Amino acid sequence: MSSPSSVDQDRLFSRLVELAEIRETDCPGWTRRSFSDAYRRSRGWTAELMERAGLDVRTDPVGNLLGALPGSEPGLSQIVVGSHSDTVLGGGRFDGMVGVVGAVEVARVLQASGRPLRHPLLVADFLGEEPNRFGISCLGSRAVSGQLSQAHLGLRDQQGESLAEALSAFGSDPDRIQGSLWPSDRLLGYLELHVEQGARLERAGVPLGIVTAITGIHRAVVTFTGRPDHAGTVAMAERRDALAAAAEMVLAVERMARQTSGQDAGVGTVGRLELTPGVANVVAGWARGWVELRSPDASWLAGRRRSLEEEVVELAARRGVEAVVEWVSSESPVACHAGMRRLIAEAIRDLGVRSMEVPSAAGHDAAHLSRLCPVGMIFIPSRQGRSHCPEEWTEPGQVARGVEALLASVVALDQVSSL
Ligand code: HGY
Ligand code: MN
Ligand code: MN
Repeated sequence: MSSPSSVDQDRLFSRLVELAEIRETDCPGWTRRSFSDAYRRSRGWTAELMERAGLDVRTDPVGNLLGALPGSEPGLSQIVVGSHSDTVLGGGRFDGMVGVVGAVEVARVLQASGRPLRHPLLVADFLGEEPNRFGISCLGSRAVSGQLSQAHLGLRDQQGESLAEALSAFGSDPDRIQGSLWPSDRLLGYLELHVEQGARLERAGVPLGIVTAITGIHRAVVTFTGRPDHAGTVAMAERRDALAAAAEMVLAVERMARQTSGQDAGVGTVGRLELTPGVANVVAGWARGWVELRSPDASWLAGRRRSLEEEVVELAARRGVEAVVEWVSSESPVACHAGMRRLIAEAIRDLGVRSMEVPSAAGHDAAHLSRLCPVGMIFIPSRQGRSHCPEEWTEPGQVARGVEALLASVVALDQVSSL
């Protein structure tokens, strides 16, 4: 098998720079949100990159971009490598992208080596990993693992458009989502390269991370309906201020998450708030907040979920507003497969590179793929642990080392028949 050093660092990094520039230029950072025109253009760019690497490219009904390489032994299960290429609003150049561009580089190197894997290889750019305006994340990996429900497809944005309509407008075929389902008995395993989006590797001075577990994430949309009123003529005691109620909820989420310190316990965030009418001299009659609870501990999540519901009921009654808590998604924490972790650790050790085990406080497509097959993730450092912001940065050498580790892990996985 070709030596891992055949990963071309300069070409790899220039691809990331090129992909990053396909963005929503009227937004901060390197924004490329699902369903945007920039995202549509970027998938054409990625499809061409896959074709140049010798992959047979197709798009499945939900909109996953898939590139296939045949194996030398017919009938064997697939090895899947991939990630996502959409970003958050104001995002960076590495979250997801290193996994997609890196997976294509692995395929390119394998092709160039002239010695194909035994197993067929599938490179996946999963549709819409980031939470979209409908509040749901990981559209593509949910679809292939049978977790994109009719209820999800019926979710509506503030303009009243449904997720199904947005998918159709994007060129996907929501009526054939079932056609995106992957048979788990045809999959040997899934590997994903990703930036850590935290600072453990950087603090430890270790170049590669082997992910132990992926955090659980519960997301809720909480809507408060009060009464719009003149901001000058209505006494404080008579107000039904929906925004004040939402603000109290925001602080309640922060408080209940802070109660147990450290990221290993859990975190709580309200990162998005909408209100009407949004005028300085009108008491807000309506407000909506998007709540995220995350933890590697399922009981922590269940406890905070109950606390949120109880606190919202109490504060809404006290403030004379109506409140609705709608849980949009509830992902349990996922352990990465122990055999896959060992395989990755040995492959990295054989490269002569240091690694350490790290948990992921970020969500990933791998969490959904874990319902189909053994999954493993390789992390590379994020400078100062920053991500989901324009400051997101990973050095070219760190990216190349991550792809070398991904390549070595794929080659190692190809030697086994099951995990
Ligand atoms: O939100 C997350 O954890 C991931 O980066 N989408
Ligand atoms: Mn992300
Ligand atoms: Mn990501």
